[in-house]
Amino acid sequence: MSLPVCLVLSGRTLQENLENYDRFRAWVDMVEVRADKLAPEEWQKLGTWPLFGVCTNLLTLRRPEDGGDFSGSDQERLQFYQNRLEEAWDWWDLEEQHPLPRSLEEAYRAKGGKILRSFHDFHGPPHDAQQRARNMIEDSDAVKIAVFVKDSSQLWDLFHLSQELRDINHIVIGIGPYGLVTRILGAALGSLWTYATSELGSNSLGQIDPRTLKEVYRVDKWTLTDAVYGVVGNPIHHSKSPLFHNNGFRELGFGATYVPFLADRLADVLSLSDYLNLKGLSVTLPFKEQAAQVAALVEERVRVCKAANTLVHTTKGWVAHNTDTIGFIKPLLRQIGSGNLDGIKVSVIGSGGATRGIVWVLRQYGARVLVLNRTFNKAQILAAELGAEAAPLSADSLERLDAFSDVIVQTTSAGMGTQIDVDPLEFYPWKGSEIAYDIIYAPPRTKFLQRAQEKGCPTINGVAMFVEQAKEQFELFTGHEYPFEDPNF
Ligand code: ATR
Repeated sequence: MSLPVCLVLSGRTLQENLENYDRFRAWVDMVEVRADKLAPEEWQKLGTWPLFGVCTNLLTLRRPEDGGDFSGSDQERLQFYQNRLEEAWDWWDLEEQHPLPRSLEEAYRAKGGKILRSFHDFHGPPHDAQQRARNMIEDSDAVKIAVFVKDSSQLWDLFHLSQELRDINHIVIGIGPYGLVTRILGAALGSLWTYATSELGSNSLGQIDPRTLKEVYRVDKWTLTDAVYGVVGNPIHHSKSPLFHNNGFRELGFGATYVPFLADRLADVLSLSDYLNLKGLSVTLPFKEQAAQVAALVEERVRVCKAANTLVHTTKGWVAHNTDTIGFIKPLLRQIGSGNLDGIKVSVIGSGGATRGIVWVLRQYGARVLVLNRTFNKAQILAAELGAEAAPLSADSLERLDAFSDVIVQTTSAGMGTQIDVDPLEFYPWKGSEIAYDIIYAPPRTKFLQRAQEKGCPTINGVAMFVEQAKEQFELFTGHEYPFEDPNF
Protein backbone atom coordinates (compact mmCIF):
# COMPACT_ATOMS: atom_id res chain seq x y z
CA MET A 1 0.00 0.00 0.00
CA SER A 2 1.27 3.41 -0.91
CA LEU A 3 2.36 5.70 1.92
CA PRO A 4 0.74 9.17 1.71
CA VAL A 5 2.95 12.18 2.37
CA CYS A 6 1.61 14.88 4.69
CA LEU A 7 3.27 18.27 4.37
CA VAL A 8 3.37 20.19 7.65
CA LEU A 9 2.52 23.86 7.08
CA SER A 10 3.91 26.04 9.85
CA GLY A 11 3.71 29.49 8.29
CA ARG A 12 2.60 32.71 10.05
CA THR A 13 -0.03 33.24 7.39
CA LEU A 14 -2.24 31.02 5.26
CA GLN A 15 -0.79 32.66 2.19
CA GLU A 16 2.69 31.52 3.23
CA ASN A 17 1.32 28.03 3.81
CA LEU A 18 -0.26 28.00 0.40
CA GLU A 19 3.00 29.05 -1.23
CA ASN A 20 4.85 26.25 0.55
CA TYR A 21 2.20 23.80 -0.57
CA ASP A 22 2.50 25.03 -4.15
CA ARG A 23 6.26 24.40 -4.16
CA PHE A 24 5.67 20.75 -3.32
CA ARG A 25 2.14 20.04 -4.52
CA ALA A 26 3.27 17.36 -7.00
CA TRP A 27 4.58 15.21 -4.12
CA VAL A 28 2.00 15.95 -1.41
CA ASP A 29 -1.13 13.94 -0.60
CA MET A 30 -2.25 15.80 2.49
CA VAL A 31 -1.35 18.83 4.59
CA GLU A 32 -1.28 19.57 8.28
CA VAL A 33 -2.12 23.19 9.05
CA ARG A 34 -0.44 24.16 12.29
CA ALA A 35 -2.93 26.74 13.52
CA ASP A 36 -0.77 27.41 16.58
CA LYS A 37 1.89 28.81 14.25
CA LEU A 38 -0.54 31.13 12.48
CA ALA A 39 -1.00 34.74 13.53
CA PRO A 40 -4.37 34.69 15.39
CA GLU A 41 -5.97 37.10 12.91
CA GLU A 42 -5.48 34.39 10.27
CA TRP A 43 -7.86 32.04 12.08
CA GLN A 44 -10.95 33.74 10.71
CA LYS A 45 -9.78 32.84 7.19
CA LEU A 46 -9.50 29.12 7.99
CA GLY A 47 -13.08 28.55 6.77
CA THR A 48 -12.06 29.43 3.22
CA TRP A 49 -8.81 27.45 3.22
CA PRO A 50 -8.29 26.85 -0.53
CA LEU A 51 -7.11 23.25 -0.15
CA PHE A 52 -10.47 21.94 1.08
CA GLY A 53 -11.43 19.30 -1.45
CA VAL A 54 -8.00 19.44 -3.11
CA CYS A 55 -6.16 17.17 -0.70
CA THR A 56 -6.68 15.73 2.78
CA ASN A 57 -6.52 18.49 5.41
CA LEU A 58 -5.45 18.03 8.99
CA LEU A 59 -5.78 20.77 11.60
CA THR A 60 -3.57 21.09 14.67
CA LEU A 61 -3.41 23.59 17.53
CA ARG A 62 -0.43 22.53 19.62
CA ARG A 63 0.33 23.86 23.08
CA PRO A 64 3.92 24.56 24.21
CA GLU A 65 3.94 21.42 26.42
CA ASP A 66 3.33 19.36 23.27
CA GLY A 67 5.91 21.22 21.22
CA GLY A 68 3.66 23.96 19.80
CA ASP A 69 3.02 27.69 20.11
CA PHE A 70 -0.62 28.00 21.24
CA SER A 71 -0.56 29.60 24.68
CA GLY A 72 -4.24 30.62 24.91
CA SER A 73 -6.67 29.43 27.59
CA ASP A 74 -8.72 26.23 27.45
CA GLN A 75 -11.76 28.41 26.80
CA GLU A 76 -10.07 29.98 23.76
CA ARG A 77 -9.08 26.53 22.52
CA LEU A 78 -12.66 25.31 22.90
CA GLN A 79 -13.93 28.35 21.03
CA PHE A 80 -11.35 27.76 18.29
CA TYR A 81 -12.64 24.24 17.65
CA GLN A 82 -16.29 25.22 17.95
CA ASN A 83 -15.69 27.74 15.19
CA ARG A 84 -14.22 24.98 13.02
CA LEU A 85 -17.25 22.69 13.16
CA GLU A 86 -18.74 24.02 9.93
CA GLU A 87 -15.42 23.83 8.09
CA ALA A 88 -14.23 20.94 5.95
CA TRP A 89 -11.27 19.66 7.98
CA ASP A 90 -10.79 15.94 7.37
CA TRP A 91 -8.83 15.43 10.59
CA TRP A 92 -8.31 17.20 13.88
CA ASP A 93 -5.10 16.29 15.70
CA LEU A 94 -5.88 16.38 19.43
CA GLU A 95 -3.37 15.61 22.15
CA GLU A 96 -3.80 12.60 24.39
CA GLN A 97 -3.83 14.72 27.54
CA HIS A 98 -6.06 17.39 26.13
CA PRO A 99 -9.33 16.15 24.67
CA LEU A 100 -12.20 18.44 23.78
CA PRO A 101 -15.59 18.04 25.49
CA ARG A 102 -17.02 14.72 24.33
CA SER A 103 -20.07 16.44 22.81
CA LEU A 104 -17.87 18.63 20.59
CA GLU A 105 -15.74 15.69 19.44
CA GLU A 106 -18.88 13.69 18.71
CA ALA A 107 -20.46 16.56 16.78
CA TYR A 108 -17.34 16.81 14.64
CA ARG A 109 -17.19 13.07 14.01
CA ALA A 110 -20.92 12.95 13.22
CA LYS A 111 -20.20 15.33 10.35
CA GLY A 112 -17.56 12.96 8.96
CA GLY A 113 -14.52 14.50 10.64
CA LYS A 114 -11.86 12.18 12.04
CA ILE A 115 -9.80 12.52 15.17
CA LEU A 116 -6.11 11.74 15.33
CA ARG A 117 -5.15 11.37 19.00
CA SER A 118 -1.46 12.06 19.46
CA PHE A 119 1.24 11.98 22.04
CA HIS A 120 4.74 13.40 21.89
CA ASP A 121 7.58 12.33 24.11
CA PHE A 122 10.89 14.09 23.87
CA HIS A 123 12.58 11.63 26.26
CA GLY A 124 12.35 8.55 24.03
CA PRO A 125 9.78 5.78 23.60
CA PRO A 126 7.89 5.36 26.91
CA HIS A 127 7.42 1.83 28.27
CA ASP A 128 3.65 2.19 28.38
CA ALA A 129 3.38 3.44 24.80
CA GLN A 130 1.34 0.48 23.61
CA GLN A 131 -1.21 0.74 26.41
CA ARG A 132 -1.55 4.47 25.93
CA ALA A 133 -2.12 4.00 22.22
CA ARG A 134 -4.82 1.43 22.93
CA ASN A 135 -6.52 3.80 25.35
CA MET A 136 -6.37 6.64 22.86
CA ILE A 137 -7.89 4.67 19.99
CA GLU A 138 -11.05 4.06 22.07
CA ASP A 139 -12.39 7.49 21.18
CA SER A 140 -10.47 8.37 18.04
CA ASP A 141 -9.90 7.20 14.47
CA ALA A 142 -6.14 6.91 14.60
CA VAL A 143 -3.28 7.47 17.02
CA LYS A 144 0.01 9.21 16.47
CA ILE A 145 3.06 8.44 18.56
CA ALA A 146 5.94 10.82 18.01
CA VAL A 147 8.95 10.23 20.21
CA PHE A 148 12.46 11.55 20.23
CA VAL A 149 15.01 8.87 19.31
CA LYS A 150 18.08 9.34 21.49
CA ASP A 151 20.07 6.32 20.43
CA SER A 152 19.98 4.00 17.43
CA SER A 153 18.95 1.07 19.67
CA GLN A 154 15.58 2.80 20.12
CA LEU A 155 14.78 2.32 16.44
CA TRP A 156 14.17 -1.35 17.13
CA ASP A 157 11.78 -0.31 19.95
CA LEU A 158 9.78 1.83 17.53
CA PHE A 159 9.55 -0.94 14.93
CA HIS A 160 8.52 -3.33 17.68
CA LEU A 161 5.88 -0.92 18.97
CA SER A 162 4.43 -0.43 15.51
CA GLN A 163 4.24 -4.20 15.10
CA GLU A 164 2.34 -4.47 18.39
CA LEU A 165 -0.06 -1.80 17.15
CA ARG A 166 -0.68 -3.37 13.75
CA ASP A 167 -4.37 -3.95 14.51
CA ILE A 168 -5.08 -0.24 15.07
CA ASN A 169 -4.72 2.80 12.83
CA HIS A 170 -1.48 4.45 13.81
CA ILE A 171 1.44 6.61 12.88
CA VAL A 172 4.77 6.03 14.60
CA ILE A 173 7.38 8.72 14.08
CA GLY A 174 10.90 8.97 15.48
CA ILE A 175 11.92 12.58 16.04
CA GLY A 176 15.55 13.64 15.56
CA PRO A 177 18.30 12.52 13.19
CA TYR A 178 18.13 8.86 14.24
CA GLY A 179 14.42 8.93 13.44
CA LEU A 180 14.75 9.93 9.77
CA VAL A 181 14.32 6.30 8.67
CA THR A 182 10.94 6.12 10.42
CA ARG A 183 9.70 8.88 8.12
CA ILE A 184 11.08 7.18 5.01
CA LEU A 185 10.04 3.66 6.02
CA GLY A 186 6.65 4.69 7.38
CA ALA A 187 5.04 1.87 5.40
CA ALA A 188 7.23 -0.64 7.24
CA LEU A 189 5.97 0.80 10.52
CA GLY A 190 2.39 0.45 9.33
CA SER A 191 1.96 4.24 9.56
CA LEU A 192 -1.15 5.69 7.91
CA TRP A 193 0.97 8.47 6.44
CA THR A 194 4.34 10.13 6.90
CA TYR A 195 5.16 13.76 7.65
CA ALA A 196 7.31 16.05 5.54
CA THR A 197 8.71 19.55 5.91
CA SER A 198 8.91 22.36 3.36
CA GLU A 199 12.60 22.89 4.12
CA LEU A 200 14.68 21.31 1.36
CA GLY A 201 16.63 18.13 2.06
CA SER A 202 16.56 16.78 5.58
CA ASN A 203 17.32 18.65 8.80
CA SER A 204 18.54 18.18 12.34
CA LEU A 205 15.07 17.10 13.49
CA GLY A 206 15.19 14.24 11.02
CA GLN A 207 12.52 15.95 8.92
CA ILE A 208 12.59 15.55 5.16
CA ASP A 209 10.92 17.28 2.22
CA PRO A 210 8.13 15.65 0.15
CA ARG A 211 10.03 15.67 -3.11
CA THR A 212 12.98 13.76 -1.65
CA LEU A 213 10.58 11.29 -0.01
CA LYS A 214 8.90 10.51 -3.30
CA GLU A 215 11.61 11.04 -5.91
CA VAL A 216 14.61 9.65 -4.07
CA TYR A 217 13.08 7.17 -1.61
CA ARG A 218 9.90 6.43 -3.62
CA VAL A 219 7.82 6.10 -0.45
CA ASP A 220 4.67 5.97 -2.54
CA LYS A 221 5.93 2.93 -4.48
CA TRP A 222 7.72 0.97 -1.77
CA THR A 223 5.71 -1.82 -0.14
CA LEU A 224 6.35 -4.07 2.82
CA THR A 225 7.52 -6.99 0.73
CA ASP A 226 10.12 -4.84 -1.04
CA ALA A 227 13.71 -4.92 0.09
CA VAL A 228 15.49 -2.31 2.18
CA TYR A 229 19.11 -1.35 1.64
CA GLY A 230 20.98 1.37 3.41
CA VAL A 231 24.16 3.00 4.54
CA VAL A 232 25.22 2.72 8.18
CA GLY A 233 27.58 5.27 9.68
CA ASN A 234 28.06 8.12 12.08
CA PRO A 235 27.87 10.84 10.87
CA ILE A 236 25.80 9.97 7.82
CA HIS A 237 23.86 13.07 6.76
CA HIS A 238 26.34 14.01 4.04
CA SER A 239 26.40 10.55 2.45
CA LYS A 240 25.85 10.46 -1.30
CA SER A 241 25.04 6.74 -1.21
CA PRO A 242 21.22 7.06 -0.87
CA LEU A 243 21.01 9.20 -4.00
CA PHE A 244 23.46 7.02 -5.91
CA HIS A 245 21.74 3.70 -5.16
CA ASN A 246 18.15 4.93 -5.29
CA ASN A 247 18.79 6.46 -8.73
CA GLY A 248 20.05 3.08 -9.87
CA PHE A 249 17.11 1.19 -8.31
CA ARG A 250 14.62 3.53 -9.97
CA GLU A 251 16.26 3.21 -13.38
CA LEU A 252 16.19 -0.59 -13.18
CA GLY A 253 12.69 -0.74 -11.69
CA PHE A 254 14.21 -2.61 -8.75
CA GLY A 255 11.69 -3.04 -5.92
CA ALA A 256 13.70 -1.61 -3.08
CA THR A 257 14.62 1.57 -1.29
CA TYR A 258 17.96 2.63 0.16
CA VAL A 259 18.02 4.67 3.36
CA PRO A 260 20.56 6.40 5.62
CA PHE A 261 20.91 4.73 9.04
CA LEU A 262 22.57 6.98 11.59
CA ALA A 263 23.87 4.49 14.16
CA ASP A 264 25.75 4.18 17.42
CA ARG A 265 26.37 0.49 16.83
CA LEU A 266 26.24 -1.56 13.65
CA ALA A 267 24.29 -4.23 15.56
CA ASP A 268 21.41 -1.79 16.14
CA VAL A 269 20.80 -1.63 12.41
CA LEU A 270 21.33 -5.35 11.81
CA SER A 271 18.68 -6.06 14.46
CA LEU A 272 16.11 -4.24 12.31
CA SER A 273 16.10 -7.37 10.15
CA ASP A 274 13.47 -8.56 12.63
CA TYR A 275 11.07 -6.10 11.00
CA LEU A 276 12.56 -5.18 7.63
CA ASN A 277 13.51 -7.15 4.57
CA LEU A 278 17.04 -5.83 5.01
CA LYS A 279 19.06 -7.10 2.05
CA GLY A 280 22.24 -5.09 1.95
CA LEU A 281 24.19 -2.37 3.69
CA SER A 282 26.93 0.01 2.77
CA VAL A 283 29.09 0.46 5.83
CA THR A 284 31.06 3.59 6.45
CA LEU A 285 33.03 5.17 9.30
CA PRO A 286 33.33 4.13 12.07
CA PHE A 287 31.86 0.67 11.47
CA LYS A 288 34.04 -0.89 8.76
CA GLU A 289 36.05 -3.02 11.19
CA GLN A 290 32.89 -4.13 13.01
CA ALA A 291 31.33 -5.10 9.67
CA ALA A 292 34.23 -7.45 9.00
CA GLN A 293 33.74 -9.03 12.43
CA VAL A 294 29.97 -9.56 12.51
CA ALA A 295 29.66 -11.27 9.14
CA ALA A 296 29.05 -15.00 8.86
CA LEU A 297 31.26 -15.09 5.78
CA VAL A 298 33.97 -12.73 4.61
CA GLU A 299 35.61 -12.50 1.23
CA GLU A 300 39.40 -12.59 0.91
CA ARG A 301 39.78 -8.82 0.58
CA VAL A 302 37.91 -8.29 3.84
CA ARG A 303 40.06 -10.76 5.68
CA VAL A 304 43.26 -9.05 4.58
CA CYS A 305 42.00 -5.50 5.00
CA LYS A 306 40.25 -6.31 8.31
CA ALA A 307 37.52 -3.98 7.12
CA ALA A 308 34.34 -4.31 5.09
CA ASN A 309 32.28 -1.57 3.46
CA THR A 310 29.51 -3.84 2.16
CA LEU A 311 27.25 -6.36 3.85
CA VAL A 312 24.93 -8.54 1.81
CA HIS A 313 22.22 -10.63 3.45
CA THR A 314 22.13 -14.16 2.10
CA THR A 315 20.58 -17.43 3.22
CA LYS A 316 23.84 -18.10 5.06
CA GLY A 317 23.66 -14.80 6.94
CA TRP A 318 25.55 -11.56 6.37
CA VAL A 319 28.42 -11.75 3.90
CA ALA A 320 31.06 -9.05 4.11
CA HIS A 321 32.71 -7.56 1.04
CA ASN A 322 35.19 -4.79 0.50
CA THR A 323 34.60 -2.71 -2.62
CA ASP A 324 36.79 0.16 -1.41
CA THR A 325 39.87 -1.60 -2.74
CA ILE A 326 38.52 -1.99 -6.28
CA GLY A 327 36.98 1.48 -6.02
CA PHE A 328 40.41 2.86 -5.23
CA ILE A 329 42.36 1.04 -7.89
CA LYS A 330 40.06 1.53 -10.90
CA PRO A 331 40.50 5.31 -11.30
CA LEU A 332 44.27 4.89 -10.89
CA LEU A 333 44.51 2.20 -13.57
CA ARG A 334 42.40 4.40 -15.83
CA GLN A 335 44.71 7.35 -15.26
CA ILE A 336 47.80 5.24 -15.96
CA GLY A 337 46.17 3.50 -18.91
CA SER A 338 47.18 0.00 -17.86
CA GLY A 339 45.71 -3.11 -16.31
CA ASN A 340 48.47 -3.40 -13.74
CA LEU A 341 51.00 -1.35 -11.77
CA ASP A 342 54.12 -3.34 -12.52
CA GLY A 343 57.19 -1.13 -12.13
CA ILE A 344 55.18 1.70 -10.57
CA LYS A 345 56.40 3.14 -7.26
CA VAL A 346 53.80 4.56 -4.96
CA SER A 347 53.97 6.53 -1.71
CA VAL A 348 50.98 6.14 0.59
CA ILE A 349 50.48 8.69 3.36
CA GLY A 350 48.77 7.47 6.51
CA SER A 351 48.33 4.27 8.47
CA GLY A 352 44.69 4.51 9.48
CA GLY A 353 41.63 2.40 8.74
CA ALA A 354 41.53 3.16 5.02
CA THR A 355 45.26 2.70 4.39
CA ARG A 356 45.52 -1.05 4.80
CA GLY A 357 43.19 -1.94 1.90
CA ILE A 358 44.86 0.60 -0.35
CA VAL A 359 48.38 -0.69 0.28
CA TRP A 360 47.15 -4.25 -0.15
CA VAL A 361 45.46 -3.62 -3.50
CA LEU A 362 48.41 -1.60 -4.78
CA ARG A 363 50.63 -4.58 -3.99
CA GLN A 364 48.15 -6.95 -5.65
CA TYR A 365 48.45 -4.96 -8.86
CA GLY A 366 52.23 -5.12 -8.75
CA ALA A 367 53.20 -1.70 -7.37
CA ARG A 368 56.09 -1.14 -4.98
CA VAL A 369 54.85 0.83 -2.01
CA LEU A 370 56.33 3.17 0.60
CA VAL A 371 54.05 3.90 3.57
CA LEU A 372 54.64 7.23 5.33
CA ASN A 373 52.99 8.09 8.60
CA ARG A 374 53.23 10.75 11.28
CA THR A 375 53.44 7.96 13.86
CA PHE A 376 56.24 5.99 12.23
CA ASN A 377 55.67 2.84 14.22
CA LYS A 378 52.21 2.33 12.71
CA ALA A 379 53.64 2.65 9.21
CA GLN A 380 56.29 0.06 10.03
CA ILE A 381 53.76 -2.50 11.26
CA LEU A 382 51.47 -2.01 8.29
CA ALA A 383 54.29 -2.09 5.75
CA ALA A 384 55.81 -5.25 7.25
CA GLU A 385 52.47 -7.04 7.03
CA LEU A 386 51.78 -6.09 3.44
CA GLY A 387 55.23 -6.27 1.87
CA ALA A 388 55.80 -2.52 1.67
CA GLU A 389 58.48 -0.16 2.96
CA ALA A 390 57.99 2.46 5.67
CA ALA A 391 59.20 5.96 6.45
CA PRO A 392 58.27 8.74 8.88
CA LEU A 393 56.06 11.47 7.44
CA SER A 394 58.55 14.33 7.56
CA ALA A 395 61.04 16.29 5.50
CA ASP A 396 63.69 13.74 6.57
CA SER A 397 62.02 11.28 4.21
CA LEU A 398 62.21 13.50 1.12
CA GLU A 399 64.76 11.35 -0.65
CA ARG A 400 62.78 8.16 -0.23
CA LEU A 401 59.57 9.92 -1.11
CA ASP A 402 61.22 11.13 -4.29
CA ALA A 403 62.16 7.53 -5.13
CA PHE A 404 58.50 6.46 -4.71
CA SER A 405 56.82 9.33 -6.50
CA ASP A 406 55.14 7.92 -9.60
CA VAL A 407 51.96 8.12 -7.56
CA ILE A 408 51.41 9.76 -4.15
CA VAL A 409 48.27 8.72 -2.30
CA GLN A 410 46.79 10.66 0.63
CA THR A 411 44.71 8.43 2.95
CA THR A 412 44.55 10.46 6.19
CA SER A 413 41.80 12.70 7.48
CA ALA A 414 44.06 15.74 7.04
CA GLY A 415 42.28 17.91 4.45
CA MET A 416 38.68 17.43 5.57
CA GLY A 417 36.40 18.34 8.46
CA THR A 418 38.25 20.13 11.24
CA GLN A 419 41.52 19.64 9.32
CA ILE A 420 40.25 21.14 6.08
CA ASP A 421 43.23 23.52 5.77
CA VAL A 422 45.88 20.90 6.52
CA ASP A 423 48.17 19.54 3.84
CA PRO A 424 50.00 16.54 5.34
CA LEU A 425 52.62 16.79 2.58
CA GLU A 426 53.33 20.51 2.79
CA PHE A 427 57.09 19.88 2.99
CA TYR A 428 57.14 18.11 -0.38
CA PRO A 429 58.09 20.04 -3.55
CA TRP A 430 55.86 18.59 -6.26
CA LYS A 431 57.69 18.04 -9.57
CA GLY A 432 54.63 17.96 -11.78
CA SER A 433 55.06 14.37 -12.99
CA GLU A 434 53.51 12.61 -10.00
CA ILE A 435 49.90 11.40 -10.00
CA ALA A 436 48.38 12.91 -6.84
CA TYR A 437 45.51 10.87 -5.42
CA ASP A 438 43.49 11.99 -2.38
CA ILE A 439 40.76 9.64 -1.15
CA ILE A 440 38.86 12.53 0.48
CA TYR A 441 35.70 13.49 -1.47
CA ALA A 442 34.45 16.43 0.54
CA PRO A 443 35.99 18.81 -0.30
CA PRO A 444 36.66 17.54 -3.83
CA ARG A 445 39.92 19.54 -4.00
CA THR A 446 41.95 19.31 -0.80
CA LYS A 447 45.02 21.45 -0.04
CA PHE A 448 47.12 18.40 -0.95
CA LEU A 449 45.53 18.14 -4.43
CA GLN A 450 45.51 21.89 -4.91
CA ARG A 451 49.29 22.19 -4.51
CA ALA A 452 49.93 19.20 -6.75
CA GLN A 453 47.61 20.56 -9.42
CA GLU A 454 49.31 23.95 -9.33
CA LYS A 455 52.55 22.18 -10.22
CA GLY A 456 50.84 20.48 -13.17
CA CYS A 457 50.34 17.02 -11.64
CA PRO A 458 47.44 14.86 -12.80
CA THR A 459 45.07 14.43 -9.85
CA ILE A 460 42.39 11.97 -8.74
CA ASN A 461 40.03 12.72 -5.89
CA GLY A 462 37.79 10.66 -3.64
CA VAL A 463 34.73 11.24 -5.82
CA ALA A 464 36.15 8.90 -8.47
CA MET A 465 36.85 6.29 -5.80
CA PHE A 466 33.40 6.74 -4.27
CA VAL A 467 31.69 6.17 -7.61
CA GLU A 468 33.68 3.05 -8.43
CA GLN A 469 33.21 1.43 -5.02
CA ALA A 470 29.50 2.27 -5.14
CA LYS A 471 29.10 0.75 -8.63
CA GLU A 472 30.73 -2.44 -7.43
CA GLN A 473 28.49 -2.42 -4.38
CA PHE A 474 25.41 -1.90 -6.55
CA GLU A 475 26.27 -5.07 -8.47
CA LEU A 476 26.61 -7.02 -5.23
CA PHE A 477 23.24 -5.69 -4.09
CA THR A 478 21.25 -6.14 -7.28
CA GLY A 479 23.16 -8.50 -9.55
CA HIS A 480 23.00 -5.77 -12.21
CA GLU A 481 25.52 -3.32 -13.53
CA TYR A 482 24.93 0.26 -12.39
CA PRO A 483 22.76 1.75 -15.13
CA PHE A 484 24.53 5.12 -15.47
CA GLU A 485 28.05 5.66 -16.74
CA ASP A 486 28.30 9.03 -15.05
CA PRO A 487 26.11 9.16 -11.96
CA ASN A 488 24.56 12.55 -11.50
CA PHE A 489 24.40 13.46 -7.82
P1 ATR B 1 40.80 6.15 10.26
O1 ATR B 1 40.70 4.75 10.68
O2 ATR B 1 39.50 6.85 10.12
O3 ATR B 1 41.65 6.34 9.03
P2 ATR B 1 42.76 6.66 12.17
O4 ATR B 1 42.98 5.21 12.33
O5 ATR B 1 42.74 7.53 13.35
O6 ATR B 1 41.43 6.95 11.42
O7 ATR B 1 43.87 7.16 11.15
C1 ATR B 1 44.00 8.44 10.78
C2 ATR B 1 45.28 8.56 9.97
O8 ATR B 1 45.42 9.92 9.61
C3 ATR B 1 46.52 8.20 10.76
O9 ATR B 1 47.47 7.67 9.86
C4 ATR B 1 46.96 9.54 11.29
O10 ATR B 1 48.31 9.62 11.64
P3 ATR B 1 48.80 9.10 13.07
O11 ATR B 1 48.83 7.61 12.97
O12 ATR B 1 50.14 9.66 13.24
O13 ATR B 1 47.81 9.61 14.04
C5 ATR B 1 46.67 10.39 10.10
N1 ATR B 1 46.53 11.81 10.38
C6 ATR B 1 45.49 12.45 10.92
N2 ATR B 1 45.72 13.77 10.96
C7 ATR B 1 46.94 13.97 10.42
C8 ATR B 1 47.74 15.12 10.17
N3 ATR B 1 47.32 16.35 10.49
N4 ATR B 1 48.94 14.96 9.60
C9 ATR B 1 49.38 13.74 9.27
N5 ATR B 1 48.67 12.60 9.48
C10 ATR B 1 47.47 12.73 10.04
